[in-house]
Amino acid sequence: MPEATEQIERQSTATADFLPIHGTDHIEFYVGNAKQAAYFYRASMGFHLVAYCGPETGTRDRVSYVLEQNKIRFVLTTPLGPSGEIADHVYRHGDGVKSIALRLDDARSAWEATTARGARSTQAPVALEDENGKAQLASIAIYGDTVHTFVERREYKGPFLPGFAAVPGPDRVARPTGLLHIDHAVGNVGWGQMNTWVEFYERVMGFRMFKHFDDQDISTEYSALMSKVMANGNEKIRFPINEPAEGRKKSQIEEYLDFYGGPGVQHIAMATHDIIGSVTRLREQGVEFLIVPTTYYERLADRVGKIDEPINELAELGILVDRDDEGYMLQIFTKPVEDRPTVFYEIIQRKGSRSFGKGNFKALFEAIEREQARRGNL
Ligand code: FE2
Repeated sequence: MPEATEQIERQSTATADFLPIHGTDHIEFYVGNAKQAAYFYRASMGFHLVAYCGPETGTRDRVSYVLEQNKIRFVLTTPLGPSGEIADHVYRHGDGVKSIALRLDDARSAWEATTARGARSTQAPVALEDENGKAQLASIAIYGDTVHTFVERREYKGPFLPGFAAVPGPDRVARPTGLLHIDHAVGNVGWGQMNTWVEFYERVMGFRMFKHFDDQDISTEYSALMSKVMANGNEKIRFPINEPAEGRKKSQIEEYLDFYGGPGVQHIAMATHDIIGSVTRLREQGVEFLIVPTTYYERLADRVGKIDEPINELAELGILVDRDDEGYMLQIFTKPVEDRPTVFYEIIQRKGSRSFGKGNFKALFEAIEREQARRGNL
């Protein structure tokens, strides 16, 4: 489901200096079987395997596969034994996001500044070094068992980080799908916790509220969630925070919390310049998307006006469209990519709009209700 958000006037409530974040360095997942998960991300999602660490490279307790597609970098990590923090994470959460890692010039300063402002340290600054150079890492806790890792890599020239070996290309398993960069990464937090984390991002991280809506918004009648989007100074890094709300049925956020065993990353949105091409390839390669009722498209032209893409092609693929005063955007959501109904992906193409698809909430759920009405069940 789209995280329901709406652009209203910007609210600048930041009280801390901005962290000078260059971008998302990588997202690390703790998974039960990284070797097989890596195959899914390569053959289905279109990533290339670029680096590896494990027993062969001198790491005894885990393996990690580093996957890239354009500017997106995922790391899949699996423990090699039953004890320790990684095994515990997999046991409790299933496969899920451990770290949203942010690239900065100075990891120690970022760690010192954020912990001084109240962040809980999960990893004090540590220097790593190998023949490819030096890197510095530090981590702070965010919601649930998730962390932000600060990555400083100016003096490192290797494939990922010290200790990792390059995997020589070409990757014959990889089938690229045109995914370019991370647009946003969404966290689900518990009942009444959204504002706690909004305040964390403001006070500790120096982020600002980008757009928000609350439970007065009509969309929550359908979606049963509340969401606020936090963004860094240049607005390139955007973290919507969702919490469950009372709705007609059990909140989708509550379902996530039940199955994930607490707060965590709900979905990661990846941008493309050609959503029809990307989604066509992803579907051909086995990625499963949410099904949109055909009724959604009956009123699409009235709702969004003229768009470049043929509506019949969007309908065939189930791609949603939303417009605001800056332009429009196209988006689609995968089904969860684990057996637990937890983490999923969004594919997004922006054509001027900087919003998050709020208009699709109502249209999507109304479309579902129209189908119910046709069956005489409403
Ligand atoms: Fe999203």
